[in-house]
Amino acid sequence: MNANPDEICAKPKKIAVQPMPSTMPIHTAAVYECESAQHAGDLLSGETDGFVYQRDGHPNAVVLAEQCRQLHGGEEAGVDFAVVTSTGMSAMSLAIVSHLKKGDHLLLGNQLYGRTTRLIAKELTRWGLEFDEVDMCNVDQVKAAVRPQTRMLVVETMANPLLHVADLPSLSSISQKQNAILLVDNTFATPLLTRPFAFGADLVIESMSKILNGHGDVMMGMLCGKKDSAERVKDAISTWGMTASPFDCWLVSRGLATAHLRIDRACENAMRLAQFLETKKRIQRVFYPGLKSHPTAAMATKLVGPTKFGNVLSCEFTGGLRDVEAFISLSKKIAFCPSLGEIATTISYPRTTSHRGLSAQTADKLGITDGVIRISCGIESAQFLENEFGLVLNAMDEISP
Ligand SMILES: Cc1ncc(COP(=O)(O)O)c(C=O)c1O
Repeated sequence: MNANPDEICAKPKKIAVQPMPSTMPIHTAAVYECESAQHAGDLLSGETDGFVYQRDGHPNAVVLAEQCRQLHGGEEAGVDFAVVTSTGMSAMSLAIVSHLKKGDHLLLGNQLYGRTTRLIAKELTRWGLEFDEVDMCNVDQVKAAVRPQTRMLVVETMANPLLHVADLPSLSSISQKQNAILLVDNTFATPLLTRPFAFGADLVIESMSKILNGHGDVMMGMLCGKKDSAERVKDAISTWGMTASPFDCWLVSRGLATAHLRIDRACENAMRLAQFLETKKRIQRVFYPGLKSHPTAAMATKLVGPTKFGNVLSCEFTGGLRDVEAFISLSKKIAFCPSLGEIATTISYPRTTSHRGLSAQTADKLGITDGVIRISCGIESAQFLENEFGLVLNAMDEISP
């Protein structure tokens, strides 16, 4: 007898799995069966717990968001909600579009991830937002730039690529006086090194495409905050269509399970490599907040350390772009991958990737010269990294002493 395609296609069989599976299943359903019209209404309005439509929410997103909220300290730390989004950029967009309106003014760190600056400068100004860029490590400059319409300060805990650590407590008191929101992008620090709510943040975003997932196979963002933001954020995430997919949430939940171990190892590697590179004559400067020579070393000890300072460092070659190109072409085991937070160590070149929106003059002024590369440490052994970097630097010396 032929199977009836109407039955097979319209109603695939569901089975109740018993005993409970030992890992979280992936709930791919786009829509859920409701018991009645009233039930659907109650679910959608939040009167009853449960799910209706994947864009509004699904179990894998709820589980991952709660993991994120707990990593940031949960209720005890005043973190009332967390949501996960399709990318880090959508978390940043969500934080802004759910809180600001036409005519509002933002103060942006002048070394933000390039796309964040572009989001505000190129996209959101068309919707009537205004902004200024300031050095978030210079509190007087920030105070002077505040306008009556300033409603948000956007800062990275450790600004990419020179890893300047912002004075979050001072920025928080400036924003409180102004009745503005302090929005912190904590991607480079992660909640395992810094919990920005402890230093006065109102909203925190992270790109979990980086070390929190850690395996280089997912795009994902996270936004968490306090009670008064929860409803508007939860509404906006569905309205703007920023929901993360169940499979991606499942992968990131799995990545988070080992994040503390990977981050410990990667931080150790970054510190060792920073110290190693500081001894090399071809390297003019090493930027790592764990080094005494870093301009924000003291703030880093207070906000990020005292023993771990992140997996990213940057260094500047004495020979500028010529040295950078030689390094990339001679380096056989360290891939040039313009992202960060992978299992393997990678390098990137901010002038043509994350910060390509800056003019050469502005980038030079900020210290992101044409000789600067950014290194994202993975979880190899520190010895492997010293050998690899040492070999490439020696080969460069042989070609051009
Ligand atoms: C500091 C920082 N914030 C946000 C983002 C955006 O994250 P995503 O690529 O997940 O959209 C990035 C991406 O590189 C980043 O480096």
